[in-house]
Amino acid sequence: MSYVLGIDLGTSSVKVSAVDKEGKIVAQQGYDYLLSQPKPGYSEQNPEDWVTATTVAIDRLILSDGLKPAEIEGISYSGQMHGLVLLDQNNQVLRPAISWNDTRTTAQCQEILAVMGQEFIDITRNVPLEGFTLPKILWVKENEPQIFNKVRTILLPKDYLRYRMTGQIAMEYSDAAGTVMLDEGRKTWSQTIAERFELPISIFPPLIESIDLAGNISDSYATFSGLSTTTQIFGGAADNAAGAIGAGILAPNIVMSSIGTSGVVLKYEDSADVNYNGSLHFFNHAIPNKYYTMGVTLAAGYSLAWFKKNFAPDLAFDQFVAAVAQSTVGANGLLFTPYIVGERTPYPDGDIRGSFIGIDGTHRRQDFTRAALEGIVFSFADIMAIFADKGSDFDTVVSIGGGAKSPVWLQIQADIFNKKVVSLKNEQGPGMGAAMIAAVGVGWFDSLQDCANAFVSYGQAYHPNSENVKKYQILHKLYKKIYGQTAEISHELMAYRRNNL
Ligand code: XUL
Repeated sequence: MSYVLGIDLGTSSVKVSAVDKEGKIVAQQGYDYLLSQPKPGYSEQNPEDWVTATTVAIDRLILSDGLKPAEIEGISYSGQMHGLVLLDQNNQVLRPAISWNDTRTTAQCQEILAVMGQEFIDITRNVPLEGFTLPKILWVKENEPQIFNKVRTILLPKDYLRYRMTGQIAMEYSDAAGTVMLDEGRKTWSQTIAERFELPISIFPPLIESIDLAGNISDSYATFSGLSTTTQIFGGAADNAAGAIGAGILAPNIVMSSIGTSGVVLKYEDSADVNYNGSLHFFNHAIPNKYYTMGVTLAAGYSLAWFKKNFAPDLAFDQFVAAVAQSTVGANGLLFTPYIVGERTPYPDGDIRGSFIGIDGTHRRQDFTRAALEGIVFSFADIMAIFADKGSDFDTVVSIGGGAKSPVWLQIQADIFNKKVVSLKNEQGPGMGAAMIAAVGVGWFDSLQDCANAFVSYGQAYHPNSENVKKYQILHKLYKKIYGQTAEISHELMAYRRNNL
């Protein structure tokens, strides 16, 4: 038998899936690691933990599941995006990695825009946001100059892991785009941005495509892990690009709606000609010279989990969600905005906070739960409205993550998006996208599209119900007013908390 491994290097754990030529997951192992939050807004990880956790998972595949190292033809990755790993001249890690959900860099984002303005957006096709990597590099330069002076290479999480497994330093395009240091038009590191912020261009590593061979398992990692040096290692992709591959988002008429802790609406783009002027993230796809646009709702599944934890801790999750059937379309007139950790798209505002609007003495818990499900989907619809503004149409939404697990939530999506919504028959997350990249890399398929035709199949389709669509159109107009009418109050409350709590 032959297998490929897809390594999904997530925020709280790594999951390694062994996949056969039919696209079947034959074994899967995972391991957790810590995310440390040493100060409010800080979010850091020890890169060594990624290596240890991945090695434990691989060892378990070999020792517990009986996978034979010689039968593992290829390995590739899906990586948590944007995290900054700094290496010195001996490729030793200089400080904990600063993660994608760290928000300490507001001042650096403002500085980037003050120095470069529109030119920055024209080069990178993105606005600088706290989560992205360049603001983190500038933060270290300004706040930890003694560390910055020793930096010789910057890497992203999965690129660091790949380095440790192969001994080869490289960064792959779909993740490199999320550094906002890439000149998207030229597909090179931006000399202009490096010069403007006095960053040595030499710290930015060689760029490779997702399906490019990055190397083989090195001798030392083979000894450490039990893997074979015959196994080939491929570039891999940012988790959102890998998730899109695993969900078959490989044509412009299909959009992904992904509800994890955060939520992502992602659209495949055939070329770099489309220009959202930074209102959406615009990154390279895992398919060479293809792209995707993406908007992020920071607290999607997290909003629902927060609500359940605090107000329905004793209910089983399925029961908690199923109870919304006792509410109505529009949650009996209750609206929720999911801005409970700030927001990214369409409002890049770290200090906005969520609201329930219209609370009435007759409302019951299931109305609040339904309002939360609907509010998350309204927020996704706000992202989709930006596609529509650019005349970029689509007819199908592929729902993955939490939103795909509940028929009620799938129907809410169909009704609010006013589009056909499908889920995957056998959803496996971004790890499957990573395995598909390896499957193409080792030559099982000619392209990711061919691989998706063989590996990805869709389940039941949910169609919009015209009565519900009309109701949601009225409610969405009201929902859209909430940001403007609560922003000032939210900002003042945040200032109060900073000063008093
Ligand atoms: C995307 C983003 C998150 C991370 C999670 O811009 O910040 O979706 O990729 O790993």
